[in-house]
Amino acid sequence: MESRIIQLDLADWGQARSRPEWTAAVEDGKVLFFPRLAFEVLPAEQPLLREDMLAPKSRNVSLGADGVLKGAAGSADEQRQLAAMIGRFRRRARQLVDGLLPEYRGALRIAPTSFRPRQVETRAQSVRADDQRLHVDAFPSRPNYGERILRVFANVNPASVPRVWRVGDSFEAVARQFLPRAKPYRAWQAKVLNALHVTKSLRSEYDHLMLQLHDLMKFDEQYQKSGAQVRVPFPAGSVWVCYSDQATHAVMSGQHMMEQTLYLPPGREVNPQASPLAILTRLVGRPLAGVGAGVAR
Ligand code: SIN
Ligand code: FE
Repeated sequence: MESRIIQLDLADWGQARSRPEWTAAVEDGKVLFFPRLAFEVLPAEQPLLREDMLAPKSRNVSLGADGVLKGAAGSADEQRQLAAMIGRFRRRARQLVDGLLPEYRGALRIAPTSFRPRQVETRAQSVRADDQRLHVDAFPSRPNYGERILRVFANVNPASVPRVWRVGDSFEAVARQFLPRAKPYRAWQAKVLNALHVTKSLRSEYDHLMLQLHDLMKFDEQYQKSGAQVRVPFPAGSVWVCYSDQATHAVMSGQHMMEQTLYLPPGREVNPQASPLAILTRLVGRPLAGVGAGVAR
């Protein structure tokens, strides 16, 4: 397997520049890795890096665009500090993406920003929810019709513990392997799921296939064990960026990470032909995305 990690020597969030080959790499589902780019946690914020800053049952703490903090425990004062820290990361992540991928300016929709203080390796989860298994991101309840999931991650571990990922083969390779096993899309099922509010809108065939890939990958023990993959330790004080709907990934260990998701409308890539939507459309041999296209069948 060719390397799917591209290492970039950037040390300053504000100095990111774009290069056609980096854009092409991200749009090919590769991971841009910035070993020297650190998100700075201030000395006064260090005490916030602990697992019990999470409210019971929350997976992570998130800060919405409206400034509302969700999923946090701790005192009112700590929550204010935490909101400020997460807000600062949000601005950093935007700055980085604006510099790195200026072609997307004006098209990106920013999601809530998250702080993930849970230790990965002690988390017990169902197979489907287990991100220690290789997968591509797909949302069961929120159909996205091919909208892209661009993510900026920063390891902020205070004890120099790396966040260890596995990164698998290209989206096309994985899609070719698993698509033949995917259950066919049924428009009536999408309607039932929507009527039961399992989904927030009608699941398109694209969303169905992305979820099938996600599940088939996670449930395939042989693939998890011996599928093409590399182990990538992202050190504390580093940043990485990828399309998580395209880069096959798993998180094996680590604790304390910041994450920013940015959504790009389908077709707004520099090369839309490299997207999961375009790849699946080619492999299936007919249009997939539109709800209309799904419902007509
Ligand atoms: C994931 O998107 O699978 C989780 C990534 C992480 O927590 O490092
Ligand atoms: Fe994931």
